[in-house]
Amino acid sequence: MTHIYLPDTGSNNALDVIEILVNVGDRVEKDQALFTLESDKATLDVPAPEAGTITAITIKVGSKIKTGDLIAEFSGSDTIGTPEVSAPVKTLPVETPQPVTKAAAPIAVATATTMTPEDTTDLYAGPSVRRMARLLGVNLKLVTGTGDKERITKDDIRAHVKNIVERAQTLPTQSGSGLPTMPTIDFSQYGPIETKALSRIKKLTAQNLSRNWLLAPHVTQFIDADISDMEAFRKSQSATYDKQGIKLTPLVFIMKALVAALKAAPTFNASLDASGDNLVLKNYFHIGIAVDTPDGLVVPVIRDVDQKSLSTLAKELAEVGTKARAKQLTAADMQGSSFTISSLGGIGGTAFTPIINLPNVAILGVSKAAIKPVWDGTQFAPRLMLPLSLSYDHRVIDGAEAARFIVTIANYLQEIRLLLL
Ligand code: COA
Repeated sequence: MTHIYLPDTGSNNALDVIEILVNVGDRVEKDQALFTLESDKATLDVPAPEAGTITAITIKVGSKIKTGDLIAEFSGSDTIGTPEVSAPVKTLPVETPQPVTKAAAPIAVATATTMTPEDTTDLYAGPSVRRMARLLGVNLKLVTGTGDKERITKDDIRAHVKNIVERAQTLPTQSGSGLPTMPTIDFSQYGPIETKALSRIKKLTAQNLSRNWLLAPHVTQFIDADISDMEAFRKSQSATYDKQGIKLTPLVFIMKALVAALKAAPTFNASLDASGDNLVLKNYFHIGIAVDTPDGLVVPVIRDVDQKSLSTLAKELAEVGTKARAKQLTAADMQGSSFTISSLGGIGGTAFTPIINLPNVAILGVSKAAIKPVWDGTQFAPRLMLPLSLSYDHRVIDGAEAARFIVTIANYLQEIRLLLL
């Protein structure tokens, strides 16, 4: 039987026992913390002098103890510590257990070993508790202390961790993002099925679209632009360009009208910075064009659209379309857009709500132009109307701005001579 006495703490004042970290019968390792004491300046751990078994604890939480007080009994060899209250450190055996932190060290020193992610120096927690938190990656600020003066104990950390684990286990329908996920369904119970793996592009696109849809509050504004005159002009030029192998589609006109509108409304040619506090306005006009390929959607970028002629844009569009379908686009080809167009005009449909290609703040959807009766003030006239859909990030853009922007695009398309001004 070995008596353990409180070694010299460097203070003549009594220390409060704030935590007892072991029970009678516990087998402890050398240096394992047994008790946590607190002075007005520091929190100290009393470590086990050697490996052994605790046979008695003679103090309890709330006891006030001084150097030399009997604190426990231990199945070990000789008496540990000293019964002499006033015995100085140098009279203690060499193997005398010392508090883990230097006795009477200021609490800031005691907590300096804390590696929890945030500053927790203002929290009541002993060194061993802090060590435990550090090992488990627990942020002490999130733990509710149930001890005296809301002191955080090891049991509090255990309860905190248990709570987190239980929540994770009892909510199987929650993904890491906290969003509900679909349950696994065996569709074969309803009829024959086959399973096809998604392409890498589709999986990446799915991730990006989900993120963009969740991050940006979307609103979509629609308009029908009268492109009768524009189409008449385009068709009048087509033959000439066809001879040069250039296909002048409505899309190049739309790109030009878009850039003119972006110049008039720079907040649409911008991105929110990571803090969400600033808008980064871009002085370049790089337009992403969504291209459907057998493997999925890709968005190559046509650079400096403001500086290029319609025929150059038409050539580049054809090139990126071919490259996309041949899987030859590089990452650089798809980076740096300041705005994006998704055109389904060659396919059909009357309108759709495109998802913003973040970090762009808006996207223009283009549907198939169709002849519609338009009231000209005295009668209905057949006009070629191009349906446009503008989805915008409502964190950045107000509804009135969006309406003005889409009207501006429609005006440029209706009267393309305005683009010359
Ligand atoms: N309304 C009516 N007709 C339209 C139109 C519109 N809004 N947009 C294009 N068209 C016509 C074109 O004039 C062309 O007609 P033509 O064959 O009689 O000359 C036809 O539709 C096909 O045009 P397309 O080849 O799609 O050219 P584009 O310049 O409109 O598109 C790309 C360029 C790169 C987007 C295109 O090559 C492509 O990949 N298109 C597929 C559609 C797509 O993937 N959209 C994105 C989906 S998210």
